[in-house]
Amino acid sequence: MSEKKKTILSLMQPSGEVSLGNYLGALKNWQRLSLEYNCIYAIADLHTLTVRQQPEDKRRCSREVLALFIALGLDKGENLVFAQSHVSAHAELAWVLNCFTYMGELNRMTQFKDKSARHADNINAGLFTYPCLMAADILLYQADLVPVGEDQRQHLEITRDIAERFNNIYGDVFTIPEAYIGKTGARIMGLQEPTRKMSKSESANANNIILLSDDLKQTANKIKRAVTDSDNSVKADPEKPGITNLLNIYCAVSGKNIAEAEKEFEGVGYGAFKAAVADAVCEELRPVKEEYERVLKDKAYVDSVMKNGAERANRLAYRTLGKVYKKVGLLPRL
Ligand code: TRP
Repeated sequence: MSEKKKTILSLMQPSGEVSLGNYLGALKNWQRLSLEYNCIYAIADLHTLTVRQQPEDKRRCSREVLALFIALGLDKGENLVFAQSHVSAHAELAWVLNCFTYMGELNRMTQFKDKSARHADNINAGLFTYPCLMAADILLYQADLVPVGEDQRQHLEITRDIAERFNNIYGDVFTIPEAYIGKTGARIMGLQEPTRKMSKSESANANNIILLSDDLKQTANKIKRAVTDSDNSVKADPEKPGITNLLNIYCAVSGKNIAEAEKEFEGVGYGAFKAAVADAVCEELRPVKEEYERVLKDKAYVDSVMKNGAERANRLAYRTLGKVYKKVGLLPRL
C-alpha cells in the first residue's frame, strides 16, 4: 500500500438484506472514499453471531454483501475486501483486548443496553464484548480513519481508549483511529416510521424499507406511499420527519444540499415531489442493481476476490498481532 495515503477502515454486518439505508448511509460514501484512500472494507460476520440467525440465511447474506462491495468497486486497486471470519487475527486480538477492557466501560455502551433490552432472552457475553472485537478489527490494520454512523461513535471512542491504554503500557503499538468526519453518509429513516432508522430489524411493514433486491417499480411505489404530513410545503423541518427524510434521500442521490433541493421543489405538491424522489432513486439504483446481480451470479469471481482479500488481510493483521503477542509476553511461535 502506498505510504502517503491514509488508511480508512470500515465493516458492515451482513445481517438481513441490503437496504437503501445501507447504500446511501454507508456504501455510497465508502465508494467515494475508496478512490482517495487506502481502504479496507469487510463484512463483520463474526459480529452477527451475537444474534441468532439461520446459518443458510447468514451465508447467503454474507455472499450478497460481498458481491455488492465488489459491484461497487470497493476492491479496486490497492483496496481490500474480505470476510472478518477469514482472518483469525480478529478473534485473537479481540481476546487480548478483552483483557484490557473494563466491565464498567462495556456496561456503559448504549448499544449493549438497547440490544439486551430487545433480545432479553439472549444477552450473551459476545453482545457484551462486541466493542472489543470491533476494536480489534480497527487496530489490527493500524487504521487512521473510520467512517461510522452516529450509532457506532461510542464504539470508536472505546476503541481509542483501549488503544491508548495499551500504548501507554507497551509503547506505540496501535495507531489511534479517528472518526472520519467529512461528507458522511446520509442517515436514512424508515418510509413509514420516519423517526426511526431504516432498518430491517425495525421494519415489520415492508413499505418501511427499500431493499436493493426490490424491483424498481416496487421501490418507486414505496416512495410514493411514504408517510408525510398534512402540510404541503417541501421543507426540511423536525416537525416534518417524513418530508425531511425524503429530502435527505433526494440529496444523497442527487448530490444537492437541502437548501438547493427545497428551492427546486418550491411550490411543488407532495405527489409530484415524491414522484421526483422516486425517479432519482431508481436512476441511482438501476446501474448498481445491474452490476450487483451480474457479480452475484459469478460465484467463482466473488470467491476469488474473497480469497485474495483474506490472504492480504491476514498478512497485514498478523504483523500487528505478532507485535501485540510479543509485547504482552507470549512465547514466540517457532
Ligand atoms: N459494529 C458495526 C455496525 O454494526 C460494524 C463494525 C464491526 C465496524 N467492526 C467494525 C464498523 C469496525 C467500523 C469499524 O455497524
